[in-house]
Amino acid sequence: MIYEKNGVFHLEGNSISYIFMIDDAGHLEHLYFGPKLGETAGDSFRLKPGFGFGTSVEYLEGDPSSCLNDLPYEWSGFGYGDYRESPLEIEDSEGLVFTDLTYCSYKILLSKDAPNFELPHHDGSDEILQLKLADENAGIIMFLYYSVCGDVICRSSLLKNTGNRILYTRKMMSFCMDMLGDLEILTLNGGWIREAHIQKSEIGPTKQVIESLTGFSSNIHNPAFSIYERKATEDCGLVYGFNLIYSGNHYASVQKNASGINRIMQGISPHGLRWELKPGEYFESPECVLTVSNQGFNGMSGNMHRFINEHIVPKYWRKRPRPILFNSWEACMFDFNERKLIDLADRASKLGCELFVMDDGWFGERNDDTKGLGDYTVNLKKLPGGLRGLSGKVRNRNMKFGIWVEPEGVNPNSEIYREHPDWILSDGRNLPRLGRHEHLLDLTRSEVQDYIVEQVRSVIEESGAEYLKWDVNRNSPVTGNKAHQYILSLYSILKRIFADKPEVLLESCASGGNRFDLGMLCFSPQIWASDDTDPIERLDIQKGLSYFYPPSVMGCHVSASPHAQTLRSTPLETRANAAFFGCLGYELDLNHLSTIEIKQIREQIKFYKNYRLIFQYGIFTRTDIGTEGEQWQVSDDSDVILGRFRRISHAAPPYENIVIKHLDPEASYKVTSRINKIGVQKFGGMINYVSPVKLNPGGIVLHEAGKFLTVKDAAEEFTEKGAVLMQGFVPQNLFAGTGYDGRQRLVGDFGSELYLISKKA
Ligand code: GLA
Repeated sequence: MIYEKNGVFHLEGNSISYIFMIDDAGHLEHLYFGPKLGETAGDSFRLKPGFGFGTSVEYLEGDPSSCLNDLPYEWSGFGYGDYRESPLEIEDSEGLVFTDLTYCSYKILLSKDAPNFELPHHDGSDEILQLKLADENAGIIMFLYYSVCGDVICRSSLLKNTGNRILYTRKMMSFCMDMLGDLEILTLNGGWIREAHIQKSEIGPTKQVIESLTGFSSNIHNPAFSIYERKATEDCGLVYGFNLIYSGNHYASVQKNASGINRIMQGISPHGLRWELKPGEYFESPECVLTVSNQGFNGMSGNMHRFINEHIVPKYWRKRPRPILFNSWEACMFDFNERKLIDLADRASKLGCELFVMDDGWFGERNDDTKGLGDYTVNLKKLPGGLRGLSGKVRNRNMKFGIWVEPEGVNPNSEIYREHPDWILSDGRNLPRLGRHEHLLDLTRSEVQDYIVEQVRSVIEESGAEYLKWDVNRNSPVTGNKAHQYILSLYSILKRIFADKPEVLLESCASGGNRFDLGMLCFSPQIWASDDTDPIERLDIQKGLSYFYPPSVMGCHVSASPHAQTLRSTPLETRANAAFFGCLGYELDLNHLSTIEIKQIREQIKFYKNYRLIFQYGIFTRTDIGTEGEQWQVSDDSDVILGRFRRISHAAPPYENIVIKHLDPEASYKVTSRINKIGVQKFGGMINYVSPVKLNPGGIVLHEAGKFLTVKDAAEEFTEKGAVLMQGFVPQNLFAGTGYDGRQRLVGDFGSELYLISKKA
């Protein structure tokens, strides 16, 4: 609900309120963003500035309480006494222009009457508040847009040149907001195969910036971040969340001034931006997403998850179960032919997979990553029956067919590059350096857009693909205007390809999570979270992403052990248990599976199919169990599935108490564990305490025996009241080397447990 009363604007969500007012000088003063309040004049939130400070500049001559630097705003200018960072910078032929945008009018638009935004927006609000601000001296007007969607506020801005000279936008944020408080910030940082690692720090007088300059939303700094009161935990305390519906260079900053006001802003990165605005022209910012919860980080995450599932991902895929896929990449890399793929498809189908994805290596001269990228003509040596032949055979095996493309990149050693060397994305003067032996195409050129649309559409049509993995594997060589135009062009290409094919499941990928953002999610319902499939590394990556993105949008696969990037050996059950908390897939050579592993995978897939909707769309929450493990759960009204993951085990382990959330206190629940099957070789030489014949702990007999002789671990089955389970239950004690009679949990390094908690009728 949005309404205005006596110059005070109220935005109310299910559980949140956002309030601001127009002050005497015509500026928008921020009053409140937090748990829902109902109607209030907002007076008690106003700061009482008194006489200002020595060096302050008075905005209204003779009024010492009008120092802009010490008041909280919804937007701010430059040149009139606010010395904090400004969300807007414009330039004319003489340099930077002072800006002072003051209130003119407002309208509450029905969403059908909203401006025709070029950038993707959420679709969950019936009304949009449009505020018009103007600065006649600068010759600009600014529209600020606010909408409410569940427990999320969306904000964006639109600048218009109303004067008669050319202006250049050097910087324009999507939103700016000032608020009081001793706050900290949580950000997601990393790099390739190390995406979305959490970092926390205090917000103080030194400005902190989250920025990407790679042309992508990036694996270095994800645009999502959270601000929270210091004492906040996963389940308690005030926590704010922010994200941007944009896939390119982004920027956010936080800083606290001497008056204790924190300024927060987010938008497109201003780096290199100089966007020409002729008289009458507009510049549009991406939409920003803001939320708040007084139920800790989990509360904030829940708001973001619901918003994405219900109002960001393409309509057709909302709440639709995502298929369990097999992907050929880690099994074959570039080395495959039809026979090999069909053999894998046979095996994947028997395991229960529903979708077979042929990854890189199927076209042109693409036998490694140095050649052929950009030439989407099928390699008939590998696939004599073409895409039609292969996809038909896959479908005969009762699976859908999916295919990989990387339409934005080209190898210099490719037909397309030889024909159109001028299509390469550059600054127009220099040939960029290569990344993974490739250049990006200049998506801003209409002939490049047509080429990509035509190529990708014909791949989908020829193969009848029900799924497309859209990859891109290098960073951009450009920044500023060109980088922004690139993203606008990418969105327009995606619209052209998929508008009439909503049922094709698009999985976006950029060397894993180099473009994991809300902009891409408006087109692709899921994103390949990381090229790192080691389950222990995934604990950090999936956990980080889970703060802002729901499990339904994360591609999570089980791969081989020892893992290709970490050389770490992990139990198959842990690999699956981690991948269950996302869109499950398998990506390993199925020829190398032992009989027991085949059986385990069949059971995993069967289990996941039974509970897929809870894993993908249930309420996801984290429980803090310290740095050496993770505890996640997903739940709906009747079931909870709880996963516990251990990084390192210790001798003489203490008792544990497993707390379950979101239960009905009065209801009775059956708790069962998904039993881990542990190969007997795990006991090493200790097996000789029970074996009738002496076995060599490093020998072939024990090694082979481990493939089919297993012990059942972490077996639990009991019934208990919800109220009790929410205080926790003590599972069997952990193995300590002093004896084993089947009643201890072995778990061990990189071990995990999965519990199903089902409400009894
Ligand atoms: C990227 C992707 C991988 C795979 C390869 C193929 O690295 O992230 O999943 O598709 O490209 O070259």
